[in-house]
Amino acid sequence: LAEEMENFQVTMGHIEGVPLPGPTCDEWDTIYNFQAREDDILIATYPKSGTTWMQEIVDLILQEGDVQKSMRAPCFIKVPFIEMIPPKSMPSGLELAKTMKSPRILKTHLPINLLPPSFWEKNAKVVYVARNAKDCMVSYYYFHKMNTFLLDPGTWDNFFSEFLSGDVPWGSWFDHVLGWWKAMDKHQILFIFYEDMIEDPMREIRKVMKFLGKDLSDEALENVKYHSSFQAMKENPMTNNSTVPNSIMDDTISPFMRKGIVGDWKTHFSVTQNFIFDKEYKKKMEGSGLNFRTEL
Ligand code: A3P
Repeated sequence: LAEEMENFQVTMGHIEGVPLPGPTCDEWDTIYNFQAREDDILIATYPKSGTTWMQEIVDLILQEGDVQKSMRAPCFIKVPFIEMIPPKSMPSGLELAKTMKSPRILKTHLPINLLPPSFWEKNAKVVYVARNAKDCMVSYYYFHKMNTFLLDPGTWDNFFSEFLSGDVPWGSWFDHVLGWWKAMDKHQILFIFYEDMIEDPMREIRKVMKFLGKDLSDEALENVKYHSSFQAMKENPMTNNSTVPNSIMDDTISPFMRKGIVGDWKTHFSVTQNFIFDKEYKKKMEGSGLNFRTEL
């Protein structure tokens, strides 16, 4: 792997106008033909919206709060990332998913119009986690710095413009959240906000539990809450990505479990950027009925 990473080149391509990693574009036909199962649970998010957090919550619910069982493998093995094509010496999400026993928990960052249609044919359940765009942008900026699979983000000012125009991997935050939001009346989608999870994790964990048709004891639920807390996940080698080689994710640049708060954007956005952002946000989101909180 070390040798492979040395010669590794980041490339970006496009599928239907959406920027995606080059290897994902190369394998697009296979990815789009992904075969879902009826009892799949798909976690869909725009990057940096709390994907890993929700993965842990869903898995802990299925394991009835048993942390030993949930620690059976790192989160990126337990929950295959369906459109990610890693270096050849690592298993791809597609391969992992194929051999996995049901019920599977799967992960995607795809905008809804690019989701493999078999998820809808099988009427699989989707938990969509959405995070306010400002904090999402800050988190994505640090992630670009520490992750070899993503291009160097340049300066914060540079990344701000790219994010706002949707010129980042997986495309526009606006298109993503709006697309999934509008599909809720057609499909089995539970829409959860990162900010709500921070505010009252137990309330949101219960929502997920009901959606999955489970009924856990209060004690089991307390375990789910405890083991999915930021501190527990930061210390857990199966969730903090410390098992990923430094040549892929460099925790010394920025930890994967970075801050886990609402409102970090305030220490990054300039007054002008905030003005530009709010104007664009209003234009794109007005009348959608979708409301985010940028502070608690
Ligand atoms: P920050 O960079 O703002 O800290 P994803 O899993 O979609 O890549 O999202 C990563 C973001 O979710 C990071 O945000 C990370 O710290 C945060 N996160 C991960 N686990 C969390 C938890 N248990 N509680 C709160 N935030 C969490």
